Amino acid sequence: MLCGRLPSHARQRGRGEAVSAHFAETSSKITGYLIGAVKRVVPASAQPGANRLFDKTTNGVERALGWREDLTPPLRIRLHIGPFADPRLYRLAGDANVEGFRDLAGLRPGSSFLDIACGCGRVARALTSYLGPGATYEGFDTAVKPVAWAQSVITAKFPSFHFRTADTFNKRYNPQGKTGASELIFPYEDGTFDFAFAGSLYTHMVPDEVANFVAETKRVLKPGGKTLATFCLLNERTLPLVDAGKTMPRLVYRYGDCRVRTEKDPAHFIAHPESWVRDLYAKVGLRIVEPIERGTWAESTPESKALEKYHLGGSPSKSASQDAVIAVKA
Ligand SMILES: C[S@@+](CC[C@H](N)C(=O)[O-])C[C@H]1O[C@@H](n2cnc3c(N)ncnc32)[C@H](O)[C@@H]1O
Repeated sequence: MLCGRLPSHARQRGRGEAVSAHFAETSSKITGYLIGAVKRVVPASAQPGANRLFDKTTNGVERALGWREDLTPPLRIRLHIGPFADPRLYRLAGDANVEGFRDLAGLRPGSSFLDIACGCGRVARALTSYLGPGATYEGFDTAVKPVAWAQSVITAKFPSFHFRTADTFNKRYNPQGKTGASELIFPYEDGTFDFAFAGSLYTHMVPDEVANFVAETKRVLKPGGKTLATFCLLNERTLPLVDAGKTMPRLVYRYGDCRVRTEKDPAHFIAHPESWVRDLYAKVGLRIVEPIERGTWAESTPESKALEKYHLGGSPSKSASQDAVIAVKA
């Protein structure tokens, strides 16, 4: 392990892996539609074989282009967590997140790290080069396939990196989930972690679900432990832009005091009132580190542009990073 050093591709970013934002976004969309279409026509019994063939083909193409790397999942799995058709963008965003944890929230190489909604281990992959001896990594997610992939590849190579599923309901990510996210008890003891990350998760959860996850985060943090969570926060600056449909994504429908992308599934993408988030953190005993770091999802300012380099949530290929709420357990 490189204990405390950032991965070389993170340090060299800008020189080496120049990624076309437009290509990344469009190719992700097209591939997503194609995968959906194939799923609809291939019978359930033949799906595992079709998936294997698809992964073999896309991995082969990426290998031929010189883009493959062992800790990066196949295209089909990457698209579960975002528009990551380009594996270089997937790695770049993970490495940039870890830089953000270090620069903005003081993550140290010896930290015990909790990845809430870890997906397929995008951040875990980057942390394998940053966390040192004595550090621990635990990740959980409601989606079975991305977690299974991370277990079979990342844990196999880095046994101190653990992944598990928590079978919670989310219409978009796990419609068969049995437990409501507002009831889930995180599967860890009180006071276990130095650092907890929730990236692009609360933008997919309604308020009572967020409230439970934030309270559980506080419970499993050590005293003095820190958490970084991304949100789209509604306040007097952002709300007029949201209601005018000028944000990325467009969130023009009302869900209580929240704003959502579609009324059919409010948790598909949702923005929460900043005052509500502040009250929640205060109520559970997490002190927000001021100022909240503003992303570019609603407006681009010199401060929000400066945050962009950390790729915190939103569309990694467009200027649409989310707000980063960093807080400390008293
Ligand atoms: C946009 S992805 C972000 C994944 C990961 N945090 C990252 O930054 O790469 C949102 C993730 O939240 C997970 N998720 C959604 N609802 C969840 C829930 N109730 N419990 C755990 N994970 C959930 C999804 O399965 C998905 O992996």
